[in-house]
Amino acid sequence: MTSPVVLAQLAPAVEAVRLSLHVLAASIWVGGQVTLAGLVPTARQLGPDAPRRVGRAFARLSWPAYVVLLATGIWNVAAVSKGQGTAWQVVLGVKIAVVLVAGLAAGLHGRARTPVAVSVWGSVAGVTSLAALVMGVFLAG
Ligand code: HEM
Repeated sequence: MTSPVVLAQLAPAVEAVRLSLHVLAASIWVGGQVTLAGLVPTARQLGPDAPRRVGRAFARLSWPAYVVLLATGIWNVAAVSKGQGTAWQVVLGVKIAVVLVAGLAAGLHGRARTPVAVSVWGSVAGVTSLAALVMGVFLAG
């Protein structure tokens, strides 16, 4: 059996893995949306179908990142929620709701068929994803 001393020595490395995976996935999910928004005008010049194809290619990266965010988010809560005050718990609750809205909006954005629906759901996904990132920084303190 691993001794408590060894477990204590490993704790900072485990924490680094947990937070690195969470931040890497956040950089893909949030940073990817910002980057994609910046590339769409150029993609449009390459052909009418190009923005949709680039969007689909991004979805193959962003959805796995979203799953990693959910999994490492639960891991974060298990690791750091003990002893946190009410304000921290409220921010966490709001953050989880915002993350779920971001996922729903991104899903509707991918299925949208009219330009208005594409831009409305894309904007909701972008704003809520950014809000989740900022709330994550508050939670980490
Ligand atoms: C769009 C999805 C998400 C984004 C963009 C996001 C982003 C972030 C960021 C940037 C941090 C700060 C990391 C640091 O400064 O070291 C963070 C921390 C945190 N996140 Fe998330 N997150 C998301 C989803 C979730 C979910 C679903 C949960 C809970 C189920 C969660 C729980 C936490 C917790 C508890 C922390 C604090 C970790 C600590 O103090 O060690 N996150 N998040």
